[in-house]
Amino acid sequence: MRLSVIGCGYLGAVHAASMAELGHDVVAIDVDERKVAELSAGRPPIHEPELPELLARSLASGRLRFTTDIEEARGASVHFVAVGTPQQQGGTAADLTYVDAAVSALLPHLSDGDLVVGKSTVPVGTAARLAELVRASPADADLVWNPEFLREGFAVKDTIRPDRFVYGVPGGDAGVRATAVLDDVYRQAIDAETPRLVTDYATAELVKVSANAFLATKISFINAMAEIAEATGADVTQLADALGHDARIGRRFLNAGIGFGGGCLPKDIRAFQARADELGLDSLAFLADVDAVNLRRRDRVVALATELVGGDARGARVAVLGLAFKPDSDDVRDSPALDVARRLREAGAHVVAYDPAANGTAARLAPDLDYVDSVDAALTGAEVTLVLTEWSELKALTPERVAALVAERRLVDGRNVFDPRQWRDAGFEFRGLGRP
Ligand code: UDX
Repeated sequence: MRLSVIGCGYLGAVHAASMAELGHDVVAIDVDERKVAELSAGRPPIHEPELPELLARSLASGRLRFTTDIEEARGASVHFVAVGTPQQQGGTAADLTYVDAAVSALLPHLSDGDLVVGKSTVPVGTAARLAELVRASPADADLVWNPEFLREGFAVKDTIRPDRFVYGVPGGDAGVRATAVLDDVYRQAIDAETPRLVTDYATAELVKVSANAFLATKISFINAMAEIAEATGADVTQLADALGHDARIGRRFLNAGIGFGGGCLPKDIRAFQARADELGLDSLAFLADVDAVNLRRRDRVVALATELVGGDARGARVAVLGLAFKPDSDDVRDSPALDVARRLREAGAHVVAYDPAANGTAARLAPDLDYVDSVDAALTGAEVTLVLTEWSELKALTPERVAALVAERRLVDGRNVFDPRQWRDAGFEFRGLGRP
């Protein structure tokens, strides 16, 4: 099939390359000339496992090309809208400027029978509004909302073989037709019996934001338990293990630590709450607490590091290991790790930072940290060491290796990845989150 993908960010670039991999003929469109040039040369703008290989294969096959010209969407029969919906400047709601602009730009190039497929995360009600615009266009086209659930670090896998598809379709024959077309796009996964739910627009939009709200709540729940554990001497990691054995609860997303960040969870819970407010509903008031618990964990890490250097961070050499919001990513959007690093820097510390992939992206946002290109360089002479992203390389650190380089044996484990006893036995002052 001939497809267009509008927006070549995290979502769009991965989606376009994955669709080409599945055998479709894909034109991917973005307004950013540099991004288009980089992608056309096979260089992904983001660090994502499997993406470079996928991009190289798709470009070589001739089934994928990138352009800034929206007119090239003409001739494709399915058009994916995969642009960003960031948090509004000075507000908490989602900024729909890019979605609206993408759909408006696409309308003149639609042909009869085309399908416009929204993948971006949007406030409930957006699809119905956009469907009106599509219906009012000269072509006889339809709109579907097909949210994306990809996780960074697993984006390719999650796109090619997701754990479920959700199609929010219009009513009547148009919905039946749209379902059949999308099934063809995703034929391989559909034939492999990937669950597929066909819903109305509002439900599809809600699946996405409520999934993220649920995940954020689960993380903040365990981080709230970490606060209780800190006040009572309990160990939140053992608590999580014990809770996780209850199949109704499950162990995943119960890792207490520095909290969630990234380009999705923080902004999505805020936008969701803002949308509920607009609807005049208090139903999501608890998400403010979810957000607050999450942000308090960052305060806690800053406080622990400060305490370990004697109550005043000024002049202290602090090794920050990990800056990305999660491992296998160079994404530092709303990264708790980078936030902590910056706050220690603002408090006067000399922050020496290392991340296996995110030094570059972090330096753009926080140029005043001292970035180094190895763990050892960061550790050398450190008066306190903070491990803030659970990269394999960092989880593999041993007390012996760290002790040989640092000035002071002090460690804050922001992700609860180490065994405290092992470090204490090696003479470290060790602080975890929610651990005695
Ligand atoms: C998330 C959703 O998982 C995905 O379905 C959606 O499409 C986009 O948002 P992502 O942002 O890639 O994906 O990250 P995710 O793996 O969900 O992690 C989010 C944050 O939560 C990270 O900062 C991670 O470190 C943190 N986290 C996760 C915890 O602090 N504890 C946990 O137990 C799990």
